Amino acid sequence: MNEPVSMETVAKLYKGGHNVMAFFRELNGSQETNTLDAIMVSYDLQSGTYTRALETTSYASFMERFSTAVAALMDGFAPGSILEAGVGEASTFANVMIRMKRRPVRCAGFDLSWSRVFYAAKYARKLNVQAEFVVGNLTSIPSPDASFDVVYTSDAVEPNYGREVDILKELYRVARRYVVLLEPSYELGSDETRSHIRDHGYCRNLRGFAEGLGYKIVEHRLFDHSFNEKSQTGLLVIEKDPPPSPGEQWMGCPICKRSLTPATGHLYCEQCRRIYPVLRGIPCLLAENGILGSKYLEAD
Ligand SMILES: C[S@@+](CC[C@H](N)C(=O)[O-])C[C@H]1O[C@@H](n2cnc3c(N)ncnc32)[C@H](O)[C@@H]1O
Ligand SMILES: [Zn+2]
Repeated sequence: MNEPVSMETVAKLYKGGHNVMAFFRELNGSQETNTLDAIMVSYDLQSGTYTRALETTSYASFMERFSTAVAALMDGFAPGSILEAGVGEASTFANVMIRMKRRPVRCAGFDLSWSRVFYAAKYARKLNVQAEFVVGNLTSIPSPDASFDVVYTSDAVEPNYGREVDILKELYRVARRYVVLLEPSYELGSDETRSHIRDHGYCRNLRGFAEGLGYKIVEHRLFDHSFNEKSQTGLLVIEKDPPPSPGEQWMGCPICKRSLTPATGHLYCEQCRRIYPVLRGIPCLLAENGILGSKYLEAD
């Protein structure tokens, strides 16, 4: 077993321009699978870089084109509620929301990294987008079933090689009508895209996994815009027969998925008797964030 790596070591590697996820893969002796910890550390250290990059003209002009196309796609679904899973700093999310003709009433996003969610909330405020952001994991989404008309991802499933089925099932569970994946496409991409995906150990064949689960694919094509032409974005749309409308509360326990009881500074799951902290306004809804408090209801 490897010694745990200190954040100081990893932060130094990151500062020195090293690929943190590749470092962890090597350490774990794995060519392709990124641990959730490696993904979290790597993205947490990068927090702030996406929204800063939006101040440069090349990323800003890409985002303008990309988010205009995504907004048009979303408008076609006329969603009353929308969730971006793996929202990062909301650089895509907030830009899509401001470009939608009819902005959904319920807008939300979650990410594995607290620092990224912190930047997401800040960026959404800057763009005047009303939305709620929480910390959460794609493999155990903190939301009751069918909470959002549309659930989408943008380059968030990609580092989760080996967890494709778990993630697809979770996205499908919390969606009411559509799951939309904007992820690098091995199947539709160029030779360069394929080797980029192989080198980074990114997910492949999301369509095949979705078909294996019996999901109805209504669209699968290369998307109109990719930031990096060596990593072409694919669009995969999965349609669901809509179940009844969701309840009032979309934040749920990541373990049992039921609605949480809000209180000052935390949320409580009556079923699992877990207390989830809300840090600087951000609900921390990873299963491991839950503090067991079986006598919680006895407290004043
Ligand atoms: C390349 S960034 C894209 C961020 C955002 N979707 C955008 O378009 O700007 C990938 C994001 O996915 C998140 N992510 C990756 N795996 C995740 C997981 N298993 N659960 C939650 N978030 C995850 C990362 O923390 C990171 O913020
Ligand atoms: Zn629970």
